[in-house]
Amino acid sequence: MSHQRRIIDHYATVVEGAVFVRPEDVVALVRARSLRSDARMLDIGCGQGQAALALAEVYPQSEMIGIDLSPEQIERAQQAAAARDVRNVQFLVADWPNFALPPSGVDVILATQVIQFMPDEHAFAEYLAQGLAKDGHLILRSVFLPDEEPGRSFVQQVMLQFIAQSVRFYSERDLTELLREVGLGRFRIDKEEMWLDDLPAQRTAILNHELAASNLSLDDVQPWFWVGTISAVLR
Ligand SMILES: C[S@@+](CC[C@H](N)C(=O)[O-])C[C@H]1O[C@@H](n2cnc3c(N)ncnc32)[C@H](O)[C@@H]1O
Repeated sequence: MSHQRRIIDHYATVVEGAVFVRPEDVVALVRARSLRSDARMLDIGCGQGQAALALAEVYPQSEMIGIDLSPEQIERAQQAAAARDVRNVQFLVADWPNFALPPSGVDVILATQVIQFMPDEHAFAEYLAQGLAKDGHLILRSVFLPDEEPGRSFVQQVMLQFIAQSVRFYSERDLTELLREVGLGRFRIDKEEMWLDDLPAQRTAILNHELAASNLSLDDVQPWFWVGTISAVLR
């Protein structure tokens, strides 16, 4: 079975309301930079579309496109748009390499909790940079690995089991280097601790197994688990 097929099968069963970024946080980040009222925006791996919808509502003159591999996620996003009567948003089923970017670029790209699924993160980063107009704003959210060992390998090992079909995770240093290579800069990074004592049972079992195998305690590893949102600008 292909990597894409496994992602599609997994997200077909994800429950309604499973959203991996707070829409109000995305709106606040976009508002922190001045944006044309008729801005063009793209949400790659938009899932159920909640962040895309929130932005489309706040900027009613803008055009928002959300793409996702999963037909079920896109259907949920389309239903939510219809229920909220948001008309300046389009949700499309697409694997990002097959989605033709507007030649003049868009003003905002969201890529929240998707980079971990990319077999070729360099190609993905280049696509992000090609998709942005000059001074365009990227919002990329991901789990951050610690930069150093042993935290780096421990978190990688746990996260690959927590998030089905993920390929690899990155540290803050990896991600900012990757984005710098393709011309993005002026990073703003917001981080939140991922609380390990409040996980679903299946994840607690995975974590306990990895703790036992490495002779570490929950208190040892808690400081290694972060989720971060990078805001960056194409220079
Ligand atoms: C963890 S969810 C994040 C959803 C949303 N961005 C959020 O933050 O709530 C990851 C989404 O990325 C989508 N995805 C993964 N690989 C993709 C690809 N190659 N092209 C488009 N969407 C992809 C999945 O189908 C899934 O809906």
